[in-house]
Parts: sequence; C-alpha cells; structure tokens
Amino acid sequence: MADVKRVERPLSPHLTIYRWHIPMLTSILTRVTGNALVVSVILFVWWLLAAAVGPDYFATANAFVTSWFGDLIFTLSLLGLWYHYLAGLRHLIYDAGRGLDIPTAEKLGWACLIGSVVLTVLTLLIV
Ligand code: HEM
Repeated sequence: MADVKRVERPLSPHLTIYRWHIPMLTSILTRVTGNALVVSVILFVWWLLAAAVGPDYFATANAFVTSWFGDLIFTLSLLGLWYHYLAGLRHLIYDAGRGLDIPTAEKLGWACLIGSVVLTVLTLLIV
C-alpha cells in the first residue's frame, strides 16, 4: 500500500471565530418553542377531552395537570407561547423588509427575550 503522508491542515477558520449572537439564538428559539407548543397543545386538548370522557378519567388528567410538574409544563408553555408570539410579530416586521440591519435585529431579539419573560410574569400575576 502506498505510504500516505499526513499533512497537518489548519481547521476551518469559522470554528475558532464562531460565536453565538442574538438573531441566531432567537431564530432557533422560535423553532424550538413552535415545536414545544405542539406538545403543550396536545396536553391541553387531552385535559379537555378527559373532561368529556367522564369524572374518573378527568380526575386522573386533572391531578396530573394541576400537579407541580403540570404547573411547570404549563408555565414553560406560557413562556414559550409569549416568546413564539413576539417572534412571530418580529417575523412580520422582517417580512415587511424592516429591522434587518444588525443593530435593529439585535434589539428586536432582546425585545423578544425580555418581553416574553415580562409578559409571562404579568400573565401569572393577573390570571
Ligand atoms: C399554540 C400556538 C402555536 C403553535 C403550536 C405553533 C407552532 C409552530 C411550529 C411547529 C412552527 C415551525 C417550527 C419549525 O420550523 O420547526 C412554527 C413556526 C412559526 N410560527 Fe408558530 N405556533 C403557534 C403560534 C404562533 C403565533 C401566535 C404566531 C404569530 C404571532 C406564530 C408565528 C410563527 C412563525 C412566523 C413561524 C415561522 C418562523 C420561521 O420560519 O422562522 N406562531 N410555529
């Protein structure tokens, strides 16, 4: 077999200079929350269907939904819903061809992140 000489090649430069930035993080989070919300909606519909099936089945579903774990899931779902909603509005702004310059895109990203936390806390306080 031929004697293969290994050449030490440099790594692609992007691996050493790459860094997370807000528009990228918030874009990924939009997809993550969109898919997570599908699970939340299924859980919510299961709870409603349980009420239609009968009192015994509803008691089981309700015990789960109102447990600390259910509270945690629905609180995170609320955060995900507000985040996804704000990111959806941001998408509308982008679709109109606005906010695409880096400083504005970063501000809009922070607005989605901070806004979703503030709106989640307000919702929990009001409801
Ligand atoms: C419970 C309600 C919702 C569910 C279950 C949901 C679910 C999803 C899912 C599964 C995706 C695709 C994610 C992916 O690409 O992997 C998505 C994307 C998207 N959603 Fe929602 N969504 C909901 C509410 C909303 C609302 C209220 C808005 C608008 C304010 C919205 C705006 C968008 C937009 C703009 C995208 C595309 C994002 C992109 O391509 O960058 N969604 N959603």
